[in-house]
Amino acid sequence: MKKILLTGAAGFIGSNAATALLHRGDLVVGVDNLNDYYDPARKRANLEEVRRTAPDPEKFVFHRMDIRDESGIDRLCAKHGFDVMIHLAAMAGVRASIEDPKLYLDVNLLGTLNLLKAARRHGHPPFVFASTSSVYGRTKVIPFIETDRADHPLAPYPASKRAAELLGHSYFHLFGQDFTALRFFTVYGRRGRPDMMAYKVLDNIFKGVEVPLYNNGQMHRDWTYIDDIVQGVLAAADRPLGYEVINLGRGKPTLLADFVRLIEEKAGKRSNLIDRPMPAADMEFTYANIDRAKELLGYEPTMSVEQGVDAFWHWYRDTVMEAGT
Ligand SMILES: NC(=O)c1ccc[n+]([C@@H]2O[C@H](COP(=O)([O-])OP(=O)(O)OC[C@H]3O[C@@H](n4cnc5c(N)ncnc54)[C@H](O)[C@@H]3O)[C@@H](O)[C@H]2O)c1
Repeated sequence: MKKILLTGAAGFIGSNAATALLHRGDLVVGVDNLNDYYDPARKRANLEEVRRTAPDPEKFVFHRMDIRDESGIDRLCAKHGFDVMIHLAAMAGVRASIEDPKLYLDVNLLGTLNLLKAARRHGHPPFVFASTSSVYGRTKVIPFIETDRADHPLAPYPASKRAAELLGHSYFHLFGQDFTALRFFTVYGRRGRPDMMAYKVLDNIFKGVEVPLYNNGQMHRDWTYIDDIVQGVLAAADRPLGYEVINLGRGKPTLLADFVRLIEEKAGKRSNLIDRPMPAADMEFTYANIDRAKELLGYEPTMSVEQGVDAFWHWYRDTVMEAGT
């Protein structure tokens, strides 16, 4: 059994990671400030489901806390003596980061610094950091590979994530801190984020929410199902690697318009999305080279987009539509 600090535990990827860790018997101390970037009721429902489905709910401890709360984080680390820190908490909206860049830098960079400082003070447990495919910007190197310099981010959000990756390197160099940055590629699935496309298409179909479709859906995304991402996160938590940056995607991009069509087929209804020009912060393409993840983490994505959309649709129908959460 490992003692794990999991930040962002109430969020999409965090709550799924919590469930997987609890199922293998780890003790999970979850931290999240339950902010209102999207409806906090969704986050509370995620936490509730984590508790309800845990084999031993006693092994899930949750603290509503901000990762920038230096003394709070320090107290938690002193009390538990974590074996691993999995840091997923972040402000995660590319477009929203343009409106409030200071918040994004504050949480994503200084919040990460706060956790790294706590790791240093308390036995430097291996540190897994959630980074993003957005750090590649509009690179010409396709598929995206970790050796790319990734120094042309298109918005404050990817700039803050790239900066945090670099900060991780400083801590590795200076203090021998194990630090693995995982660059996630467009994650979707159970407990998905309401601000992301898969969820928004269904909200458009069933709730009439107005949803833009950028560039008429003519952009590719390397959609990756949540269970595959969680598999990679757990593998990284189990394998301290010094300093590493690793893509976690599927390695098979799909056209956004085709992804939308798949969702419509599952839902049995057409959406009514509004065509909008491509925003300046958006990438035309995301496409992961996942060789490094395979080699270092034994990572092997298993869900096709068809299977993933099917699973996501069932979750949305049973949870969001039926239960209203
Ligand atoms: N979902 C994706 O496709 C994707 C892609 C690339 C990277 N990521 C990264 O993965 C991580 C998880 O993303 P997600 O999709 O689950 O997003 P999410 O918004 O559902 O989860 C992030 C959680 O962090 C919490 N949080 C934000 N600021 C905080 C703070 N100051 N203190 C404590 N908690 C705070 C939020 O309340 C939220 O519950 C993020 O770091 C995100 O940047 C996600």
